[in-house]
Amino acid sequence: MLEQLGEFVKKNGISAGSCYVNCRSHPSKYKALLKVLRSFYPEKDFLGYSASFVYEKLLEYANEKKAHLILVLDEIDKVKDIDDLVYSLSRGNDELESGSLTMIGISNNLMFKEKLDPRTKSSLCERELVFNPYNATELCQILKERCLISFKPNAVSEPAILLASAIAAQESGDARTAVMLMQRAGEIVEQVTTVTDAYVEKAKASVEEEIIISMISTLPQQQQLVLYAIAQLTSQKRGIRKVSGEIEEGVLYSGEIFDTYLDLAKKFEEHTITSRWYRQYINELEMYGLIVATASGKGIKGQTKLVKLGFDAAKIKAALEKELFKAMN
Ligand SMILES: Nc1ncnc2c1ncn2[C@@H]1O[C@H](COP(=O)(O)OP(=O)(O)OP(=O)(O)O)[C@@H](O)[C@H]1O
Ligand SMILES: [Mg+2]
Repeated sequence: MLEQLGEFVKKNGISAGSCYVNCRSHPSKYKALLKVLRSFYPEKDFLGYSASFVYEKLLEYANEKKAHLILVLDEIDKVKDIDDLVYSLSRGNDELESGSLTMIGISNNLMFKEKLDPRTKSSLCERELVFNPYNATELCQILKERCLISFKPNAVSEPAILLASAIAAQESGDARTAVMLMQRAGEIVEQVTTVTDAYVEKAKASVEEEIIISMISTLPQQQQLVLYAIAQLTSQKRGIRKVSGEIEEGVLYSGEIFDTYLDLAKKFEEHTITSRWYRQYINELEMYGLIVATASGKGIKGQTKLVKLGFDAAKIKAALEKELFKAMN
């Protein structure tokens, strides 16, 4: 879209510029704005300059060139001081005599805006677009286009494409799942002539694991810590004891997870979330299918939420450790 915009702008002699930043790689206001500034001044690196200098320099660029700047901030919820960033960028327009700043924030987390300060939110004047997951018909269309490019003619059977679309639509509605299924099925087939639905079925298990791991890597860090607490407790504990004396394996109390989370957050020198946000995160983790949460019913003392990990604890723990330690450095 930015390329198309660039062509339009050139053709119509409009002064404009755009920049794409993946905030997962630039997770603070300073880092994200530095990346933006460098893209407008490719010959300078601005290393060692203060945060306010970087911001002022960006405004100066828009002002002097009378340029309309569009900043695409992908995975914007990964920015630690997101309030500051969003507030500064939206207020930047008040300081400009000419030119403008427009921000496009992209996030998988529908709730992230609720974490913004009300003042920040009101200065945003935002328009929200929600991209729903693809359905099987749409995925089928996408896969057909992709298969034309990546496979020899007639190397993929129609039922294989239909099955891969159906599986991906049911599990996530994510085009990546569908594409990965076809790719993996193709790799398994290798010597045989045609990718049939039987091969897609075989590819399913290995793709699932990769998808879960990549999903974990996109969670906000605090939510990763909550999930980490669940995985850690699951691998340490035998489960909970019911009133009958029977042990329910792999099941955890919501309260013990929160306590473990608090310990972990301290270890990672993170601030801690309140129990209200904790419950929100638990609900979201359940929505993503990473955990199963139920209200404690018969046979359990007291009223609490019970949580069970949806996947192998050791694998989830390993994936999270990679993410959390990466974030620490
Ligand atoms: N309409 C489409 N046609 C063809 N390919 C598509 C389409 N939509 C998505 N894809 C493919 O699916 C993959 C994921 O798409 P994209 O990177 O846009 O997803 P995303 O929403 O940014 O995901 P994430 O949340 O992981 O960042 C890419 O390989 C992309 O090419
Ligand atoms: Mg993306």
